[in-house]
Amino acid sequence: MLAKSMLTKSMLAKSAFLRACRCLPTEQVPVWFMRQAGRSLPEYRELRGEGSMLETIACPEVATEITLQPVRRYGVDAAILYSDIMVPVHAIGFGVDIVPGVGPVVAQPFRTAKDLQRLRPLEPTEDTSYVLQTVTNLVAELAKLHVPLIAFAGAPFTVASYLVEGGPSRTHARTKSLMCSNPQLFCALLDRLGDLAIASISSQLTAGASAFQLFDSWVGTLTVDQYRRFVLPTSKRVFAELKQQHLDAPGIHFGVGTGELLSLLAAAGADVVGVDWRVQLNDARQRLGNNVAVQGNLDPALLLAEWPVVAKQATDVLARNKGQPGHIFNLGHGVLPETDPAILEQLVGLVHGYRYAP
Ligand code: CP3
Repeated sequence: MLAKSMLTKSMLAKSAFLRACRCLPTEQVPVWFMRQAGRSLPEYRELRGEGSMLETIACPEVATEITLQPVRRYGVDAAILYSDIMVPVHAIGFGVDIVPGVGPVVAQPFRTAKDLQRLRPLEPTEDTSYVLQTVTNLVAELAKLHVPLIAFAGAPFTVASYLVEGGPSRTHARTKSLMCSNPQLFCALLDRLGDLAIASISSQLTAGASAFQLFDSWVGTLTVDQYRRFVLPTSKRVFAELKQQHLDAPGIHFGVGTGELLSLLAAAGADVVGVDWRVQLNDARQRLGNNVAVQGNLDPALLLAEWPVVAKQATDVLARNKGQPGHIFNLGHGVLPETDPAILEQLVGLVHGYRYAP
């Protein structure tokens, strides 16, 4: 216990990413990319082959290598575990697959109170021992590079949206109609998924990850009132319990299209709020106040442009933060598969080379 907390302290002193999570000043702006590991990398496609992504995740040697690929290639300031938000529900046997080019698909979607029985608690050391082995491997490798590992889980609402819809959805119509017509059942569902997120992230942190991100990617589809009533209580519980168990590990909370919800994402208990590209960083800062760090927020679509365009837009993101401590450069959402890795490499160089006027 002592050794791990000492390790965290020395990591915190050295890591620009962990310092920025705590709103401490850093010499360079730290940077990592959501979906940095994945289909935009030829070395990923080569390792991954065909087959289900869930099988790849269940193979610690391969998952370790895939997580390390972008760290080596790009020189980013943090690694994110190669896994998926659907892994815990898959591991307890809900019946999920991840279909290439589609995303998570659920054979028997969540419909009635009976389906709650299909969501038993997660026993991480038994159900997802492969994830913990991958984390253990990674922590040993990343320590040599002084790069921290980010643990993660899907937030209850976003995982619920896949379980209820049965797959990706643009409207989240079934999810919203269940939420409004049977709030009690919806809240019971979110509660179970909250327990899964806590158990999963907690086990990754115990295995040595240094920070965590709770992905509520699709929560931006809700109104402020809906968020407050249906989502905030469970997300608050996730952050509070993780804080209690892992005092040292900063928590990041991210969703797409959350301009109206930003201050509520912080109110859930996040140390860092991920901002998508729709809200400019100076406006996000105003909505969030000074006690929370921000992560973001270059539009991933712009990475398909020529380098001078990318450089201009990235510089604009940096300038809008005005040098305030507590900025982690990232994209507004994940790297698109068509992205040229060379552009991401250049982008890391630009961010690391950027200096604010004194
Ligand atoms: O670099 C990283 O961020 C690596 C780890 C990671 C993956 N998924 C790998 C992945 C993380 C953090 C996720 C989280 C995740 N998964 C989210 C939250 C982040 C976000 O994008 O909003 C969501 C919504 C999912 C569900 C999911 N999984 C989708 C929508 C897809 C895309 C389908 C596709 O093929 O584009 C997946 C599949 C997935 N997850 C891939 C990767 C590398 C690609 C699949 C493959 O290699 O076959």
